[in-house]
Amino acid sequence: MSLPRIAVLISGSGTNLQAIIDAVRERQFEAEICAVISNRPDVKGLERAEAVGIETRVVDHKAFTSRELFDAEMIRVIDGYAPDLVVLAGFMRILTPDFVRRYEGRMLNIHPSLLPKYRGLHTHQRALEAGDSEHGVTVHFVTEELDGGPLAIQAVVPVLNDDDEATLAKRVQAQEHIIYPLAVKWFVEGRLQMINGTACLDGQPLPAEGCQLHMDR
Ligand code: GRF
Repeated sequence: MSLPRIAVLISGSGTNLQAIIDAVRERQFEAEICAVISNRPDVKGLERAEAVGIETRVVDHKAFTSRELFDAEMIRVIDGYAPDLVVLAGFMRILTPDFVRRYEGRMLNIHPSLLPKYRGLHTHQRALEAGDSEHGVTVHFVTEELDGGPLAIQAVVPVLNDDDEATLAKRVQAQEHIIYPLAVKWFVEGRLQMINGTACLDGQPLPAEGCQLHMDR
């Protein structure tokens, strides 16, 4: 039987990509990363993939005159690998509706906040400024609403009194590298699905916040 195929889209350092590469190599689940596709050349994430022999592609958004043309090329490249799952791992482009619809139900994203709080950028700073006692990270299915699709897993971490943006980001990122491989595992094992716009685990709808994991540090 052929393994489930995962295409990972990146724009940068690729620490989440690395966590998924490691999980596959440690056989935490049976799957193949068939391609790593970046919209930026020369990023660390591409090196991480090349270091373990994963095929890489660059589709430089700067070479396209519109978002639609860029996304059309992305679709052409992605579909060339026939992935079962598309993983956005720090892919910093806003996607067109056509792109999202094409992979709906088989595209995941990770966002560094407890969605629906703090969509968009600078999430750690915003959580600090709001005086939140908890912060975290969310893996969700991608729908047309930016950072708005059904939530699969959330890791909740405490905000400590002496936190600054860097310490809080570090605490959140440690959890990213746990929950993203877990979400991918559940998906490729057929346990995590999007059914009628709802994230389901083992056929049961998850609560709005997804499967929430509380981390004490
Ligand atoms: C992560 O913080 C993720 O939550 C956000 O982009 C960042 C990607 O980091 N979507 P990396 O490239 O995986 O290191």
